[in-house]
Amino acid sequence: MGESIAASHWDAVYASKAANEVSWFEATPSLSLDLIARFGQPSGSVIDIGGGESLLVDALLAGARSDVTVLDISENALAAVRRRLGDRADAVDWIVADIASWTPERRYDVWHDRAVLHFLNDPADQASYARALDAALSPSGVAIVGTFAPDGPEHCSGLPVTRHDAESLARLLGKRFRLLFTTRADHRTPWDTVQHFQFSLFGREAGCSDIGGR
Ligand SMILES: C[S@@+](CC[C@H](N)C(=O)[O-])C[C@H]1O[C@@H](n2cnc3c(N)ncnc32)[C@H](O)[C@@H]1O
Repeated sequence: MGESIAASHWDAVYASKAANEVSWFEATPSLSLDLIARFGQPSGSVIDIGGGESLLVDALLAGARSDVTVLDISENALAAVRRRLGDRADAVDWIVADIASWTPERRYDVWHDRAVLHFLNDPADQASYARALDAALSPSGVAIVGTFAPDGPEHCSGLPVTRHDAESLARLLGKRFRLLFTTRADHRTPWDTVQHFQFSLFGREAGCSDIGGR
């Protein structure tokens, strides 16, 4: 899917549906918050990749995190969250970008992705994602990647997805990263169906903190 087609798709989704009318809505992003609290440095920076209209950013700000970035391909999604946050939006860095072609300008202590990587079906896009993660993660940072599990849905928002487990993610990220934790999670959609997710957490292998080369 080309970058502008993907952006149009997601902008149309967010223009036509309320935040709680999409299958991925969760009133409280409990698992994400728990993993960030358990594995992230207490006052470390966080980037939410493909944050959409997630309430994660609200909870991070309420938890006194002062360095929070939300990236999404959809300008509409980020505009809606900025409206929701009002003045608090000024405390957040907002990036409209396609994660498959984004070059980070700084590093972050926590990379969080819930339900974004699985939309990248082309191996070249997946490799670009891994390169962006490598370039963006601080030397002692952790990457939390939540995707549909191997027994999860095959489509979402009308798009095909690539399902993952910890092993496929470890292969994708390569030898520079080490799996620290993985868990399965059942997401209950607003219409009360269950979607099987997996969340896997990676840190850098010792000596693999330089930006670039794999
Ligand atoms: C299923 S939603 C999940 C949103 C949010 N992470 C959550 O848990 O509520 C997928 C999000 O990824 C964004 N997205 C899809 N493809 C993307 C890409 N290539 N680069 C950046 N964001 C993307 C969409 O705009 C959408 O907000």
